[in-house]
Amino acid sequence: MKADDHTPPIEDQSSEKRPALTADHDMPGAYEGETVTRRRLFTRGALATGGIATAAIGLPSLGFALGPAFEQQEPTRWQDVGAVGDFNPETYLPAVITLVPDAGEAGKTTIYVRRRNVLIDTEPGDRWNQYVVLTSRCSHVGCPVRFAEASGSFICPCHGGVYDFRGIRTGGPPPRPLDRFFTRVRGGRLEVGPRYSVNDHLQRFSPRDPSEPLDGLGQYIYPRRPTTTPRPR
Ligand code: FES
Repeated sequence: MKADDHTPPIEDQSSEKRPALTADHDMPGAYEGETVTRRRLFTRGALATGGIATAAIGLPSLGFALGPAFEQQEPTRWQDVGAVGDFNPETYLPAVITLVPDAGEAGKTTIYVRRRNVLIDTEPGDRWNQYVVLTSRCSHVGCPVRFAEASGSFICPCHGGVYDFRGIRTGGPPPRPLDRFFTRVRGGRLEVGPRYSVNDHLQRFSPRDPSEPLDGLGQYIYPRRPTTTPRPR
């Protein structure tokens, strides 16, 4: 008897352990009973993760962009700041107005007021700028500026911003002149209306926030906000 006669036959079990590829399955590489291949599962998972990430970034941006369109426009308010005779074309006088009603002292701000001077104020005049009213809020990041009588300029203590007598930036980081306010006269009293912004040529724009330039491409990069008070008519 040969030793080989007691050796059990080696069974080929490969066909039982591994499920056979199905000829009629519509997914290439899928085994019988499988409804999705591993590659397809990972692909769908990656797409789902990408979709969630896109929504997480895109939806807040969309809300930020469209939200102001559904906010209410601020109403036009006029505030009495004194008799017209109180102001002259040579220098500014400070006055206090309310920017945010119902906010107490926090809603008030200082403005600088003078009468228009045709020798200095060369921008076109109309019924809204017979008095020049400048904000005290720096156009850089909003610190309060102070009028220096001796030099006839406005100084910002935060980062050294300097504006000339007309509120046009002459030094430091401010990106545009000081904002202005529409004015009108009623019964011998000077009234201050909505704020507006100006570029270096003192052309009017709807009010912008600090740090938003208006010269060159700035006026397009920082467009008008739909909620801003419309210019008076
Ligand atoms: Fe006025 Fe910066 S806030 S220069």
